[in-house]
Amino acid sequence: MSGVGIHLGFLNCYIAVAGAAAFETIANEYSDRCTPACISLGTRTRAIGNAAKSQIVTNIRNTIHGFKKLHGRTFDDPIVQTERIRLPYELQKMPNGSAGVKVRYLEDRPFAVEQVTGMLLTKLKETSENALKKPVADYVISIPSFFTGAERRYVMAAAQVAGLNCLRLMNETTAAALAYGIYKQDLSPLDEKPRNVVFIDMGHSAYQVSVCAFNKGKLKVLATTFDPYLGGRNFDEALVDYFCDEFKTKYKLNVKENSQALLHLCQECEKLKKLMSANASNLPLNIECFMNDLDVSTVMEKANLQREDISSIEIVGGATQIPAVKEQIMKFFLKDISTTLNADEAVARGCALQCVILSPAFKVHKFSITDLVPYSITLRWKTSFEDGTGECEVFCKNHPAPFSKVITFHKKEPFELEAFYTNLHEMPYPDPRIGIFTIQNVFPQSDGDSSKVKVKVHINIHGIFSVASASVIEKQNLEGDHSDSPMERDAAFKNENKDDVDKLQVDQEEGIHQKVHAEHTPEEEIDHTGAKTKTTPLEKQEQLNQTIKREKSRTAGQDLLNSYIENEGKMIMQDKLEKERNDAKNAVKEYVYDFRDRLGTVYEKYITPEDMSKLSAILEDTENWLYEEGEDQPKQVYVDKLHELKKYGQPIQMKYMEHEERPKALNDLGKKIQLVMKVIEAYRNKDERYDHLDPAEMEKVEKYISDAMIWLNTKMNAQNKLSLTQDPVVKVSEIVAKSKELNNFCNPIIYKPKPKVEVAEDKTKANSEHNGPMDEQGGTETKPDRNPCKYSHLILDKGAMEKR
Ligand SMILES: *[C@@H]1O[C@H](CO)[C@@H](O)[C@H](O)[C@H]1NC(C)=O
Ligand SMILES: *[C@@H]1O[C@H](CO)[C@@H](O)[C@H](O)[C@H]1NC(C)=O
Ligand SMILES: *[C@@H]1O[C@H](CO)[C@@H](O)[C@H](O)[C@H]1NC(C)=O
Ligand SMILES: *[C@@H]1O[C@H](CO)[C@@H](O)[C@H](O)[C@H]1NC(C)=O
Repeated sequence: MSGVGIHLGFLNCYIAVAGAAAFETIANEYSDRCTPACISLGTRTRAIGNAAKSQIVTNIRNTIHGFKKLHGRTFDDPIVQTERIRLPYELQKMPNGSAGVKVRYLEDRPFAVEQVTGMLLTKLKETSENALKKPVADYVISIPSFFTGAERRYVMAAAQVAGLNCLRLMNETTAAALAYGIYKQDLSPLDEKPRNVVFIDMGHSAYQVSVCAFNKGKLKVLATTFDPYLGGRNFDEALVDYFCDEFKTKYKLNVKENSQALLHLCQECEKLKKLMSANASNLPLNIECFMNDLDVSTVMEKANLQREDISSIEIVGGATQIPAVKEQIMKFFLKDISTTLNADEAVARGCALQCVILSPAFKVHKFSITDLVPYSITLRWKTSFEDGTGECEVFCKNHPAPFSKVITFHKKEPFELEAFYTNLHEMPYPDPRIGIFTIQNVFPQSDGDSSKVKVKVHINIHGIFSVASASVIEKQNLEGDHSDSPMERDAAFKNENKDDVDKLQVDQEEGIHQKVHAEHTPEEEIDHTGAKTKTTPLEKQEQLNQTIKREKSRTAGQDLLNSYIENEGKMIMQDKLEKERNDAKNAVKEYVYDFRDRLGTVYEKYITPEDMSKLSAILEDTENWLYEEGEDQPKQVYVDKLHELKKYGQPIQMKYMEHEERPKALNDLGKKIQLVMKVIEAYRNKDERYDHLDPAEMEKVEKYISDAMIWLNTKMNAQNKLSLTQDPVVKVSEIVAKSKELNNFCNPIIYKPKPKVEVAEDKTKANSEHNGPMDEQGGTETKPDRNPCKYSHLILDKGAMEKR
C-alpha cells in the first residue's frame, strides 16, 4: 500500500509516492520525473505527456496545453478570453456557456475541460501504476489555493473521469508546507511558540505565498496571498517579445504572424530561461516591471507577523529558480532563502504524504493540518413576510478549514438557500454564485407552528462549500414564546460565530482525525408564527431525509459525468487497440527488414536462385505496400500479412536451423552408440565388471545398437546426397529422440548394479569404483573396438558433416 500524490501543474506534473517502503518521486516511461501537462490528439491516436509535448509545433491545432486556468469557467470569462489569445488551439463555447476545447480526434469534436484534465490524469495514473506495478486506488491531487468551488469541482470531476479516487484536493502551498514539516524533528511542542515559515511558490502561471505555523505534529496556515497571473511564463513571454522585436528590427520578420515559428520560439525561450537561471549572469532583459508584483508584505500583515518572527523562507515552483525572483524575495525578508525543499517535487511529495495520512490503511504518525478559507461565503434566503431576504456570512475569509456549521431555520414549507462568495472583488473569478440548495419536505408542525430545521453547511476537505444535510426538530412540548425579528436573529448568529473555538470537536462522521469542526447552532427565524428559539431537552431531533436539491451547480451533472467516464474508457480502449494495430504493423515491417537481411547473409546457401529472386520481389512488394495502401489498415490485415510472409520464411529458417544444429545431434548419438559398444565389447571379453549382466538382455542391446548404427548411417548417407536447399531427410528432433530412446533401452541393462558380494574390504572398494554408471572417460581403459570398421565409418561421416 502506498499513498500517491499528484502535482497537477499548469506546465508540468509530478507524481510522488509515500509508503512503508519508499518515499520518492516517480519517473515516467521516458525516465523523466516531470510529465508535461500536454495532450496531442491525432486522427486515431492520442499522445499524453512527453510524447504530446514534442508535437506542440507539428500538430499545433490538436495539441492541448495550458488548460489549467479553464476549469469551471465560462467561455466569456475574461480569464478564458485572455488565455485564449495565448493558445494555438481553438476554444469553444459549450451549450451551457462553459469553455470547451475544439479538436479533431477520430472526428471533429469538443471536449469539456473535465475531460481534458481527465485524459492527463489517466496518463498520470498509468505512470504511477506502472512504477508501483499494481493498481493504485487513492490519490491526493494538488490545486492552487485560490481555486474557487467551481474550479475545485471540475478537478474532482476530472479525477472521476480518470477513475481516480481523490481523497483530498490539496492547496499547493499547504502540500509544500506538509512536505517541509512532517520530517522536522526539532519542532517545539504544541503549547510552545510555533516556528513560522513562509512558503513562496511561483510556478509557470501563478504565484502563491503562505505563512504557516509549525508545532510538533501540527501545521496551521496563518495567512495566504496569491497572484493568479504571475509566473514563469511571464519571463518566457518577456524573452519572446524581446526576440520578436529583434527579428523585426534586424531581419524585418514578424514572428508573431507565424504560429508555428512563434511556438518554436516559445519553446526555445523556455529553455533559455532555464539556462539563464542556472547561470546567475545578468538577464539581457528588463524584467523589473513585473517583479514589483511580488508583494509579500500583505501576507505578513494578514498573519500579523514581523520579519523577525519568520524562522525560514522556503521556495518551491520552477520559477523560483530564476535568480531575479530569489533576489526580490531576499530583499524583502533581509534573509537568505532556504533550500530544504525540492522546488519541483515538494508539492507532489506533500500530496503523497497527505494521502498516506488520510488513508485508513496506514498507521503513520498523525499530522494535523488546518487550512484557511480563501474567500468569505454568504447564505441568502427568502423570508415570507414583506418580501424580505435573510442573509448571513457563514464563513469569513481566513476561517479555518475544513469546517462544518449548523444553522437553524424556522419554516413551514420547503425553502431555498443561495450560497455565494461575499466579496467578488477579492477573487480571481467573475461569478460569485456557488449554488442554490433547496431544502425539501418541510411542513408545518401539527399545531400549525413552523418546524425547526437544522441545516448543516460545510467546507469539505477539498475546499468545496456545500449544504451537507438538513433535519427537522420535532417539538414535543409547546411553550408559546414568540421570536424576535429577523434582523435581530442575524445579529445573534454573528455573535455566536465568535464562539467557534469553545465548541470545537473532532468530526467523527468523516473519520478524518486531523479534521476539526465546530458544531455551531445559531438559530435563524424567518417566520413570525411563534416557534421556540431555544432548544429544550424535550425536543426530539429527527433526521428526516430532507432532500437537498442543488441547482445552478457549476459542474457536469451525474449523467454527463457518467458519459465522460464512459468516453474516457472508450478512449483508453482505443489507445490500446491503436497500439496493438501499430505493433502489428511494425511486426510486418521488422519481418521484412530482418528477412531481407538474412537472405543476403545466413539464408543465402539454403535457397535456390529462382526462389531468391521470387522472395526478394515479395519483400519489396510488401515494403512498398506498407508505405502505400498498407499504411493504414486494420490490425488483422497486418497479422495476416505477417502470417503469409512467414509461410515463405519459415521453411528457409527451418533448413538453416536444422543444418546448424544437426552436427551436434549426430555427434551426441554417435558418442552414445560408441559408449554402449565399448561395454558390449568388454562384456564379451569377460571383463569382470560386467560378468553379472544378463546374456539374453545383452543380446537385445547388441541388436538394438546395430540397428541404431544402421539408422544413423542410412540417414547420414541420404542427407549427404542432398543439397542445402532441399528439405532435410532427418530432423534434429528425430535424432535427439533417437538418442533418448537409446538411453532408455540400453542403460538399464548395461548399467545394472552388480549384486553385493561379501569379499575382502579392499576388493569391495575396487569394485565400487567401477560400479556406477560409466561416463565417457570410464570407457578409456577398455580394449580397442571390436568393430573398428563400422566405427571409423561413423567418425568419417561425422567429419564430413562438420566440414560442410
Ligand atoms: C555564465 O555566463 C557568463 C557570461 O554571461 C559566461 O561567461 C559563463 O561561461 C557562463 N557560465 C556557464 C556555466 O554557462
Ligand atoms: C486550502 O484547501 C482547503 C481544503 O483542504 C480549503 O478549505 C481552503 O480554502 C484552502 N485554503 C486556501 C488558503 O486557499
Ligand atoms: C426517505 O426516502 C425514502 C426513499 O428515498 C422514502 O421512501 C421515504 O419516504 C423517505 N422518508 C421520509 C421520512 O421522508
Ligand atoms: C457545461 O457543459 C459541459 C459539457 O458541455 C460540462 O462539461 C460542464 O460541466 C457544464 N458546466 C456547468 C456549469 O454545468
